[in-house]
Amino acid sequence: MVKQKRKVVLITGCSSGIGLSLAVMLAKDERKRYRVIATMRDLQRKDKLLEAAGDAYGKTLSLAVLDVCSDESVKQCISGIKDRHVDILINNAGIGIVGPVESITLEEMKTVFETNVFGVIRMIKEVMPDMKQRRAGHIIVISSVLGVQSVGFHDVYAASKFAIEGFCESLAVQLKMFNIKLSLIEPGPVRTDFELKMIQEVKERECPGADAETVYYFKELYLPSAINIFPAVGQTPEEISRRIKKVMETSRPSFRNLTNSLYAPIVALKYADETGGLSVNFFYHMLFNLGPVLHYTVTAMKFLSFGFLKSGTVSPH
Ligand SMILES: NC(=O)c1ccc[n+]([C@@H]2O[C@H](COP(=O)([O-])OP(=O)(O)OC[C@H]3O[C@@H](n4cnc5c(N)ncnc54)[C@H](OP(=O)(O)O)[C@@H]3O)[C@@H](O)[C@H]2O)c1
Repeated sequence: MVKQKRKVVLITGCSSGIGLSLAVMLAKDERKRYRVIATMRDLQRKDKLLEAAGDAYGKTLSLAVLDVCSDESVKQCISGIKDRHVDILINNAGIGIVGPVESITLEEMKTVFETNVFGVIRMIKEVMPDMKQRRAGHIIVISSVLGVQSVGFHDVYAASKFAIEGFCESLAVQLKMFNIKLSLIEPGPVRTDFELKMIQEVKERECPGADAETVYYFKELYLPSAINIFPAVGQTPEEISRRIKKVMETSRPSFRNLTNSLYAPIVALKYADETGGLSVNFFYHMLFNLGPVLHYTVTAMKFLSFGFLKSGTVSPH
């Protein structure tokens, strides 16, 4: 039997969360089908990854420095790979931001876009020409359900994910000509450091520039609900990694991959009413009227989703 060559998978942002979990899962693949290049901007943060990878490090897993915000770092990393050959590029690195828009500086917003939008584009521009030449490859982008339907106080983060979704929607059409696949992964809340770290930070921070009423809505209504939603409906990084692995291993992967079926009804609302009124009103009531009784809202979401699952609209997998 001909031995299949291992696929080279490059993942950005592997120091924690989804990137770390995915790098380990792929490197420990039972059939050893992958050669994982786990990248991070600061190699001093490698210990958690190496501990989880165990024996796989040095065999199916290697490390490389990569800051998605630096042209030089991206070029150096890709040039250091044998023949610049990447079969699967996983754009995972990302940062979040939440809060009243008046209290977020333009510099902070630009950092979010530099990472979540231009960071992904920079990676794709560096890897895509070789994929085109080989007429093979798969580009995966970790977006968010907030890249499809936003909610209050996530204006800037959602804008960054919407931007990358628009970019990918266009690119996917062109890449099809070259037999290159492009897939978006759209998680809801995931129990990583990501959002909780951000929420904790923002809780302690003043909101300069925002009026007292907005700050009240944000801190007293939105934040407690947002904190509750993670244990209630959040997925684990491993669940997201399993889903990404499945997308990598399907011969015809979907372009969009919503990972949490509880969010399917929310996305459906968007497409059910092209005026947008349904979604705006739904989130208004969720936040301002149902926020204090979030657990009922979560139950309602579960109930709604169950209907969708039963009708076969959305696969729980
Ligand atoms: N957690 C959620 O609820 C959730 C939901 C939907 C989508 N997502 C998306 O999932 C992806 C992974 O997030 P996560 O939840 O796993 O959060 P996380 O644990 O905070 O991981 C984010 C990773 O991105 C890295 N990163 C940030 N800026 C970078 C840069 N300039 N260059 C290279 N790496 C950089 C971080 O590295 P450092 O350690 O150096 O900071 C970290 O390894 C993100 O794109 C996020 O938007 C997350």
